Amino acid sequence: MLGHTPVLLEEVMKFLDPKPGGRFIDATLGAGGHTRAILERTAPDGRVLAIDQDELALAGARESLQSFGSRLIMEHSNFKNIAPLAAGHGFLEVEGVLADIGISSMMVDDPSRGFSFMREGPLDMRMDRTQDLTAADVVNTYAEKEIADILYTYGEERRSRPIARSIVRARPLRLTTDLTRAIERVMGGPRGRIHPATRTFQALRIFVNGELSSLESFLDSSMTVIRSGGRLVVITFHSLEDRIVKQKFRTPPVPGRVLTKKVVVATEEEVRRNPRARSAKLRAWEKS
Ligand SMILES: C[S@@+](CC[C@H](N)C(=O)[O-])C[C@H]1O[C@@H](n2cnc3c(N)ncnc32)[C@H](O)[C@@H]1O
Repeated sequence: MLGHTPVLLEEVMKFLDPKPGGRFIDATLGAGGHTRAILERTAPDGRVLAIDQDELALAGARESLQSFGSRLIMEHSNFKNIAPLAAGHGFLEVEGVLADIGISSMMVDDPSRGFSFMREGPLDMRMDRTQDLTAADVVNTYAEKEIADILYTYGEERRSRPIARSIVRARPLRLTTDLTRAIERVMGGPRGRIHPATRTFQALRIFVNGELSSLESFLDSSMTVIRSGGRLVVITFHSLEDRIVKQKFRTPPVPGRVLTKKVVVATEEEVRRNPRARSAKLRAWEKS
């Protein structure tokens, strides 16, 4: 996709080190930036199995990456299913697996997906639009205490209780702007670098998409599909996810070693070019 810049591309390539003929799994295809780079480096006959739970991302990549033909296999699925998908496509014992987790810029920029408090749209927030649960269901039907717990657990929002109360009072909430207003009633309007709605939106998104439990299952399973000496590279965008990755790499279900003693972050130069890279954290692991 034009205008999309994959984050930490150089660093990802350094750790995955794709060679001609290699087989890799990109668990989060998105706009296909990392997959494209892997396919270019594994030419002429290397292959990528690319997974995404967002069918719009797959549709875009199908077009933009069509020149790679059968070297690229795409699957609409949650990455927690990586093991059966890999087995089904002959991608066991792969050289490497990549996950660049979170929402794509395509999702954030599309008001109809409801991910952004900067854009008015329905309170949806589903990455996989074939799933039933939406953010509107949560804010309109869950008990106040459940909402407060979600905001606290997944957004680390200290004012979770008053915000939950304000949400319940504002029912029914239909639009992202309804939610932002309910939050601002407690937190006040935007000031400083972090918008007062940031944590609540993050929390609802993580909850609606079951992001943390998917990540846990994905990490366990991906380690089993990598060959000995193969690598797992994971990029996360907030501390809850990074904590899970760090912990799993330290105590993996199969033997391996951490390649990133210190977490890798984007250079100032990359952040200047691509502000989305600001909060990206990369960790890499090698199977014994
Ligand atoms: C940041 S984007 C990936 C960008 C990609 N690396 C690129 O270069 O264009 C993250 C993608 O991961 C997908 N995703 C997030 N969680 C997922 C999950 N549990 N299973 C499958 N895909 C997921 C999202 O739908 C989104 O398209």
